This record gives sequence, structure tokens and C-alpha cells, in this order.
Amino acid sequence: MIPSMIETRSEFAAFQVVEEPHPPLPVTVRPADETDLGPISVLMAERERDRPSRQLRLHRQQLERQTQGIGQLLVAESDTGIVGVAKSRVVTPPSGSPYRTPPAGWYLSGIVVDPRYRRRRVGRRLTEARVRWVLERAGRVFYFADSQNEVSLALHRDLGFVEVARNILVSGVTFSSGCGVLSVLTREDWNSRIS
Ligand SMILES: CC(C)(COP(=O)(O)OP(=O)(O)OC[C@H]1O[C@@H](n2cnc3c(N)ncnc32)[C@H](O)[C@@H]1OP(=O)(O)O)[C@@H](O)C(=O)NCCC(=O)NCCS
Repeated sequence: MIPSMIETRSEFAAFQVVEEPHPPLPVTVRPADETDLGPISVLMAERERDRPSRQLRLHRQQLERQTQGIGQLLVAESDTGIVGVAKSRVVTPPSGSPYRTPPAGWYLSGIVVDPRYRRRRVGRRLTEARVRWVLERAGRVFYFADSQNEVSLALHRDLGFVEVARNILVSGVTFSSGCGVLSVLTREDWNSRIS
């Protein structure tokens, strides 16, 4: 079984076309530490409609992955506190995984921005930071999302992610639309965008 990598069952942000860009929210993006687990769990529990205690356990595991160098747990902190959380991790599907299982590699494995601070560039900052960090360690980074999560798909597409498969199967993940989309960004493509 592939470990559960991302949470997709709760609602997505509504896709909106804006005339004027919103002013970016000043935030510090940094690796989380033990003291952040409380606010992270509250934010994730709201998004997942889950118990904070369960989210605390899951994010403590993610913090351990970060310590071992096989994962990352980032927070975006503003002067009001933690306003965003984002993760990445190594995933290794066991042999015999079903056809349509995404390949082994580094994955962006979840991002949530506090609904009060969305569309202020926090998600972009968190994603750019994860991509940079992963592409220092690997030649490509994967990401998957529900096909109806247009906001997430637009955010990642803007950064250069390219769709490579649809109707993927990920153990432990239920795509509410019934269709998961796998995308990839290579180091080469990322470097050519930022140079
Ligand atoms: C997806 C999410 C993290 C985006 O965070 P955010 O801080 O609001 O996003 P940003 O302000 O950094 O937006 C970056 C780009 O994403 C796209 N985008 C973000 N919100 C959008 C919206 N509501 N409508 C359309 N495009 C949007 C735009 O391309 C935007 O660039 P622009 O502002 O220059 O047009 C946030 O909406 C969220 O927490 N959603 C719920 C959890 C979720 O779906 N996570 C992803 C699971 S795969």
C-alpha cells in the first residue's frame, strides 16, 4: 500500500477571475518545529473536518520525516500567526501496486492556506519554497490533485507543473470528483523558468 499522501475530500477554494491582483500578505516561510504543531493541527482539522488530535499525530509524523530528510513541513507565518501549512515527502509504492499508481519519487503532499488569507500569494510562496527544496534533492517533483480542484491546478500550472496522467489510483485517497490528476515539474523546466 502507498501511505496516504494528501487529503482531498473536503471543499476546494472557489475559482475566481480577479481584475486586480490582491496585495501579497507579508509572511515568513520556514520549516515547522514542535511549537507549530498546535496551530498546524487546528488549521488542518478545520480543512479536513477532522479531530485536531488526529491531525496532531499525523503532523508529528511529518515532522519526523523532516528530521530524517525524507519530508518537509513548512509553515507561513504572518504577524497574526500561522496562516498556511505545506508538505512534501518521498513516496515509494510497493511492488505489485495497481496499474495507474503514481511512480516513486518526491511529492508535494498537501497545502492549506487559512481561508481568511487566501489569494494573497501565501500558497505560491509555500509551493515555490517546497519546489526549490525538493529540486535540490531530486530531478523532478510530482503533485496530484482532484480534477475539480481548479484553484490548486491553476496554482501549480502557473509554476510550471505539467499534467502527465489522469484517473490515478492512490491508496488511502478518495478523489471526490472520482478523478485524480498527476502533474510533474522537472528541475530543467524549473531552472529555465527562473533563469
Ligand atoms: C490552493 C490554496 C492553497 C491556494 O492558496 P492561496 O494562498 O490562496 O493562493 P495564491 O494567492 O498564492 O495564488 C497563486 C495562484 O493560484 C491561483 N489561484 C489561487 N486562488 C485562486 C482562486 N480563488 N481562483 C482562481 N485562481 C486562484 C492563481 O493562479 C494565483 O495567482 P494570481 O493571484 O496571480 O492569479 C488555497 O486555496 C487552499 O488552501 N485551498 C484549500 C486546500 C486545497 O485545495 N489544497 C490543495 C490540495 S491539492
